[in-house]
Amino acid sequence: MQRARIIGTGAFLPETVWSNEKLAAMIDTSDEWIRKRTGIGQRHLAGPGEGASDLAVPAVRQALDAAGLKAGELELIVCCTTTPDYLFPATACIIQTALGACNAAAFDVNAACSGFLYGLSSANAYILSGMYRTIAVVGAESATNRLNWERRDTSVLFGDGAGAVVLRAEEGERGILSTYLGADGSGADLLIRLAGGSKFPITKDNAGGPDCDVQMKGPELFKRAAVLFEDASRKAIERAGLQLDDVDLFVPHQANARIIKAAAARLGLPEEKVMLNIEKVANTTAASIPLALHEAAAADRIREGGVVLLASFGSGLTWGAAVVRW
Ligand code: ACO
Repeated sequence: MQRARIIGTGAFLPETVWSNEKLAAMIDTSDEWIRKRTGIGQRHLAGPGEGASDLAVPAVRQALDAAGLKAGELELIVCCTTTPDYLFPATACIIQTALGACNAAAFDVNAACSGFLYGLSSANAYILSGMYRTIAVVGAESATNRLNWERRDTSVLFGDGAGAVVLRAEEGERGILSTYLGADGSGADLLIRLAGGSKFPITKDNAGGPDCDVQMKGPELFKRAAVLFEDASRKAIERAGLQLDDVDLFVPHQANARIIKAAAARLGLPEEKVMLNIEKVANTTAASIPLALHEAAAADRIREGGVVLLASFGSGLTWGAAVVRW
């Protein structure tokens, strides 16, 4: 059977690191509050003028090297981001030209923290349809340069980075076994940046005001997150024809360590089967799952043929899951 197999992974984190203590010296917060509520210990920050594409390109290059492929062999690049370089053109096009991937089509996906799973699912469908055989999916976020650091409710949560996978059509049992996606736009106001789009353009009157900040109803999101992680995961496992006991590693979106632990408990997955790297990288939105996946693969936490469950939840609202035989 033809499947989309992950044949290479890559990651890139910008050099600058800010600890919780650094934030505590800037705003009314503490290392203790941030760690206890979220599990975050530090975050990486892109430099001035460093956009999502600047983080994505080295991540895709690393994934291509791991796959033993040249950029010219890519047929499609999917960039998953909420922080594109520009409103248009798509960041995927900037990545395409920087890589020299002259044979690749390119587009962006915005499904916030679920972006990578929406992108992976699209790439899987292209491969299963026979339209493309070799695709790079990259999650990349350069979010911190747009954060209002005085907003302690949101600024402490996010970090920058990029993670990528290269998928190739292959015969056999290894590859993506199933995907499941969900959305509920009635929850759009739970996590939103109002200004900057067509409905509320940034004007001289609202520039720098609260409409330009990330607005989040954290406790409401928290309540929904663990339930939706569980629901999406169970559906993807069922579609794959497997049981939760078959899962070797759970790689969830890293929004909050407490949400991840609650979701793992609901799924009956023991701690040693859960990938957690939020302590080092914070919430990197669409980059979070491929960053964690790359780290897990690099640390040999995934055996060949092992079953990996990916799951996410985010603004939109959006959620999703995928099951991969490694
Ligand atoms: N430092 C210190 N105190 C703070 C901070 C901070 N950084 N931020 C908020 N507080 C205070 C609040 O003002 C409040 O004080 P009060 O009790 O005097 O009013 C108190 O801490 C509790 O605030 P809550 O918001 O109730 O804290 P909670 O325990 O819910 O934790 C958090 C907040 C971490 C944001 C949590 O709600 C959460 O993780 N929610 C889910 C986030 C999520 O999943 N987002 C979706 C994915 S991300 C994406 O799509 C981009």
